[in-house]
Amino acid sequence: MTDDENPAKRAKKSASSLEGNRASFTAEENALVDALIACGQHHLFEAWPEAGTRDDDKRRFLAQAKTCDDGYPGGIAAYVKNAKKLLSDSKEGVNPFDGWTPSVPDGVVVEYASDEHLELEKAGMEEIGSAAFVLVAGGLGERLGYSGIKVELPAERTTDACYLQNYIHAILALQSRAAGEMPAHRSAKGVGIPLAIMTSDDTHAKTLDLLERNDYFGAKPTQVTLIKQEKVPCLVDNDARLALDAKDPYKLQTKPHGHGDVHALLHTSGLLSRWSAAGKKWVVFFQDTNSLVMKVVPGALGVSKEKKFVFNSLCVPRKAKEAIGAIAELTHVDGRKMTVNVEYNQLDPLLRATINKDGDVNNDAGASPFPGNINQLIVSLPEYKTQLEKTGGQIEEFVNPKYKDDTKTTFKSPTRLECMMQDYPKSLDADAVVGFTVFDNWVGYSPVKNSPADGVAKFKSGNATHTATSGEMEVYGCNAKLLSLAGAKIAAPKDVTFNDVVVPAGPRVCLHPTFACTFNELKGKVGGGVTIETPESVLVVEGAGVRLENLKLDGALVIKACSGATVTVNGLEVKNEGWTWKKAPADADEVDALRGFVIERGETAEYVFDTPGTYELP
Ligand code: UTP
Repeated sequence: MTDDENPAKRAKKSASSLEGNRASFTAEENALVDALIACGQHHLFEAWPEAGTRDDDKRRFLAQAKTCDDGYPGGIAAYVKNAKKLLSDSKEGVNPFDGWTPSVPDGVVVEYASDEHLELEKAGMEEIGSAAFVLVAGGLGERLGYSGIKVELPAERTTDACYLQNYIHAILALQSRAAGEMPAHRSAKGVGIPLAIMTSDDTHAKTLDLLERNDYFGAKPTQVTLIKQEKVPCLVDNDARLALDAKDPYKLQTKPHGHGDVHALLHTSGLLSRWSAAGKKWVVFFQDTNSLVMKVVPGALGVSKEKKFVFNSLCVPRKAKEAIGAIAELTHVDGRKMTVNVEYNQLDPLLRATINKDGDVNNDAGASPFPGNINQLIVSLPEYKTQLEKTGGQIEEFVNPKYKDDTKTTFKSPTRLECMMQDYPKSLDADAVVGFTVFDNWVGYSPVKNSPADGVAKFKSGNATHTATSGEMEVYGCNAKLLSLAGAKIAAPKDVTFNDVVVPAGPRVCLHPTFACTFNELKGKVGGGVTIETPESVLVVEGAGVRLENLKLDGALVIKACSGATVTVNGLEVKNEGWTWKKAPADADEVDALRGFVIERGETAEYVFDTPGTYELP
């Protein structure tokens, strides 16, 4: 054993480097140093020069260590202890599902626009004023490869509204319905519907800037709260020694801890207590790039209410073995039970080892009986608050080290502990009512996560691409389908190719949430006399007072009505050259390059009603 590998010698060396420095530290700094040494982190101080040299750097190091210490329940000592256990389990290949048997949990499969759905929406809308929304937006989005934050990307380029704008406008529209006052953009009774956004160091400043530059997209600044998650230290080996930055020996290497942090932050920030005091009953969690999520929230909230779910995972139908987490009820040999997300690569072996030698297989309807978790979650606030008061919001963690070789002793690069928000039910008692709600992909699930290059690879292997290109076409496709379910006749989509991926492209329909927040509402505003004749047509509708009764569209039509303007479209025929979707040029900006096209806006019939009143078109 070299001196470097001998822990006793290392401890002595760092103790002597530290000795002279101690006098210049505060009591609190010394306590932190003691805590770090006590949990085996002497190496961090080994190279420290004598007092008087690089003192500012040492203090900078201690300030960062304190942030990490404060940001983790139980501090760095608890983090290191948890890491040692998880790293040891990982090395030994411990199976986390040993002793558990899966079955299909209680849940509701909802056919959008069915009578059942309409009833669920009504039940959900009775509750919506008692909801608070939480957007987790601390992720880097490395797979997408966009240089900015994901929530500033436009969900589609027809209106160019970014994700955050869409989310806030949808929440404000829901709020106005909850307050019983049409149209939107007015504050509801009491505090309105609050929105918390979890950011991280990677996204915080840009998110705040986006909100401030845009006047909070019409929300009251007090309605939106940013809660920032801290990163956690990286680990160099199975002893959970913390990693120093390769370029800066006075800096810990840190990485995101995962979206599971949201639970502890809602608790420690006092937000949950405030919401509870304001009479809120539900917390709706959603992600940064799923433009369709708000279409299914009212129905899913109705399910939560009817089924008394304390935790409801929004899901999509899932093909057997499809690469999306599955919701399963697990029963342990010792009688414990939990309904949780099981990763697809764990579900198949678990089923084979327990109830089905064929593993994860499709049922007669061509889908796995275990639905696919899209990680938009609805939680009943009173039970959630009580639970977080017990646990502090700590979520079961995992570690995923990439080992250099089979000895599993060294890592290719430092690793860290992570946690996921969907793992919250693991902390619940067996009698907690946990379930799921399934809607079809087209209406509630359109994530934009992948770069164009990864999209091509996914497309070639027959998988959903989840790129900015598919995301944009899915917005239009969903809105067009909603119109047709409401009775309109809509031209069928045509395949188009952008960024080497083929996507179905129908009429570019953008329905602002002020126009309709639910299918119940939409149905009452769209008549059977609406026809969009060509797949290249563009239709933008904004405003609670717009009604589409008789319309023939072949081209581009934009109708915007301010609050208090009632506009009835009855007998309008629009035929113009419309807009063209063209391949993006080689020097296209980043946002265009991500989707592979640019829009050439040609002739447009545009009707803007910016004064309250009653109008007819034509
Ligand atoms: P993603 O799975 O999309 O991960 O996160 P990501 O980190 O954003 O993107 P990649 O993996 O680097 O490509 C799902 C949701 O969780 C949020 C993301 O912002 C997204 O809304 N998230 C993720 C956090 O809020 N914090 C995290 O530490 C990680």
